[in-house]
Amino acid sequence: MSANSIIETKKATIQFNGLTAVDNVDFRMQAGEAVGIIGPNGAGKTTFFNLLTGLYLPTEGNILFAGRDITRVPPYKRVTLGIIRTFQLVSVFDSLPVIDNLALSTIRFGENYGSKWKFFFTDVHGEKIMKNCLDQLDVMGISDKADLMTSELSYGDKRKLEIAVALSLNPKILLLDEPFAGLSDQEITEVSVIINKVKATLSLVIIEHKISRIVDIVKRLCVMHEGRLIADGPPEQVLSDATVREVYWGKEEGLTCSV
Ligand SMILES: Nc1ncnc2c1ncn2[C@@H]1O[C@H](COP(=O)(O)OP(=O)(O)OP(=O)(O)O)[C@@H](O)[C@H]1O
Ligand SMILES: [Mg+2]
Repeated sequence: MSANSIIETKKATIQFNGLTAVDNVDFRMQAGEAVGIIGPNGAGKTTFFNLLTGLYLPTEGNILFAGRDITRVPPYKRVTLGIIRTFQLVSVFDSLPVIDNLALSTIRFGENYGSKWKFFFTDVHGEKIMKNCLDQLDVMGISDKADLMTSELSYGDKRKLEIAVALSLNPKILLLDEPFAGLSDQEITEVSVIINKVKATLSLVIIEHKISRIVDIVKRLCVMHEGRLIADGPPEQVLSDATVREVYWGKEEGLTCSV
């Protein structure tokens, strides 16, 4: 057990039909830290998030949250503990109004949620719930789009909505899987300003290929390759590491960026 760690993995490993997607990963971060995870396609980054959030059970190893072993705790319970993620491909309900995406998660995981009956009979548009939802949309700069159908939003605005939903769940640790993928430069800048603002209030892990952007957010960078964690430290140190450069050689634009 580690006193101050918010999340920790001990020899976390998962295999799919003989492929080791995450291989013996020992990872630990302190509450309040912001950590970036980079690595080539197929390195195991998303699978690692799936282990942290309980979508997958590790073949071997353990996951700890605030010192408590949560290896077998199901995903929805991890949400109530404060382990919140976004997905590589934006995951919101297209067929609902924007505000209802937030209202649903607020009711489902809010402090008043007691039973499934309460979920079905709560007034989605109750004043307190609406205020909370609008506040979150405001943080993301899309409160003027509250009443639109989600399907009408641009991909960038859907990403902002997804992050708003994540923030509405009061994350203690927020896991963002490629939040900038598919966004314009302008949208990336907007989302990164917001992430930089909220990171003071939580622990953050961010998977991202755009290394020049991620180094504006984190002071610690981890590199995954073939399921293993091959580097971990300050970005300048990690990006000049010989093994990391070899893994990336010719594959990523990012390593040529200045940090
Ligand atoms: N459910 C699954 N069943 C079988 N193989 C899987 C499964 N999930 C992931 N994999 C495999 O595990 C490896 C790691 O995949 P993962 O999606 O974690 O990579 P990644 O680092 O997130 O890549 P990218 O940068 O492209 O998103 C890949 O070879 C992938 O095909
Ligand atoms: Mg991925």
